[in-house]
Amino acid sequence: MPTDEHGDVTAVRGHLVSFRADPFFDDDALVDIPDGLLVARDGLITSVGEYAATKSAVPPGVPVAHHPGTLICAGFIDTHIHYVQTGIIGAFGSQLIDWLNHYTFVEEQRFADRAHADDVARVFFDQLLANGTTTAVAFCAVYPESVEAFFAESARRGTRMIAGKVLMDRNAPDGLLDTPQTGYDDSKALIERWHGNGRNLYAITPRFAPTSTPEQLELAGTLWREHPGTFVHTHVSENRNEISWVRSLFPQRAGYLDVYDHYGLLGPRSMLAHGVHLTGRERARVHETGAAVSHCPTSNLFLGSGLFHVHDAKDPRRPMHVGLGTDIGAGTSFSMLATMNEAYKVAELTAYPMSAIKSFYLATLGGARALGLDDRIGSLQVGREADFVVLDPQATPLLAYRSARAESTEELMFVLSIMGDDRAVAATYIGGRLAYQRKES
Ligand code: GUN
Ligand code: ZN
Repeated sequence: MPTDEHGDVTAVRGHLVSFRADPFFDDDALVDIPDGLLVARDGLITSVGEYAATKSAVPPGVPVAHHPGTLICAGFIDTHIHYVQTGIIGAFGSQLIDWLNHYTFVEEQRFADRAHADDVARVFFDQLLANGTTTAVAFCAVYPESVEAFFAESARRGTRMIAGKVLMDRNAPDGLLDTPQTGYDDSKALIERWHGNGRNLYAITPRFAPTSTPEQLELAGTLWREHPGTFVHTHVSENRNEISWVRSLFPQRAGYLDVYDHYGLLGPRSMLAHGVHLTGRERARVHETGAAVSHCPTSNLFLGSGLFHVHDAKDPRRPMHVGLGTDIGAGTSFSMLATMNEAYKVAELTAYPMSAIKSFYLATLGGARALGLDDRIGSLQVGREADFVVLDPQATPLLAYRSARAESTEELMFVLSIMGDDRAVAATYIGGRLAYQRKES
């Protein structure tokens, strides 16, 4: 990357798409610049606009990387993923609770071994970048070593990541359990070491209500209050049997969401995975508290969990913050394009045709807003961190054939979201630096 007296500079020219607002509520949300130029310096976007009008922003001697025929958008934000489940994607034949017991809880015990965690973290970050995902909200395992491996890899890559040690002190194999006190102590030490260290951020991560005692949830809430600015990351109302189980474990609570509410775990920066079966009252409570839901369609279909009603989630009377998540390894693809594809189909099954403008929003600025990080990531705007992805609508012969017929930017985005996957990611930039480039065949 060229360096002048002012630092590292990158200039990229192409068809820029970004968001200025939420397209669920604003018809003019898309920023569409067919011949655009983006300039980044020392990790931040310093200029963005029409090429002809802004080309003087490129310092002399800095080459412009021209990507004609592509779409360039903010890096994808995966709002729910388990890096420790990379090795169990596509595990056959069960729904949530059986799947956890048969596959997940077995696999996660391997992450007590730091060398194994390091190996998987490398594979995981390679996959994120090859899929254009520049920020993820990730579950690690119960072992602090698994978190060290994750953040160390993120630090090497320069990515903005949110992750945490899983808290779980019951209803799982002994080797996978902490205690309320060790969970608190280990999380606190990890927060002190990693929250705000470079671009890394920490999420207090109770797995879900069934695997934490009331004492552990109480301490998780205490920890969150003691560390303002950290995140909470958990699961809620994914599967009907899970919901019944929570009711029997916490009979004194009004419902599943109320368990988290009671222990002070809802608010801005709490990310609740799934929420497929939240009631209207619960959705209103998510809205009131400023918490967010991660919609994970490939996972919800794979585990037969149910259909997320995005239209209800974005009810203008009480919209919830919503991001998209892959939920690897119950989810079946690292690709946020493939996730948009399944989100579209799930929405169709709920009689809501979701435009590509909305699904790209959920995968970028919507996710950033859900995390309260939209002042840093999620859009192509001056001052934002320069994480972006170059998408190639000609990536395969069929995509090229179909894309050639697209008559608008929106149609091109839709085709990419339905037919695209990692093959359609030509390049991924992190903090203005080229972090991944597709091998040309
Ligand atoms: N609920 C509790 N743990 C998990 C998990 O690992 N994956 C999914 N999809 N749901 C969960
Ligand atoms: Zn999950």
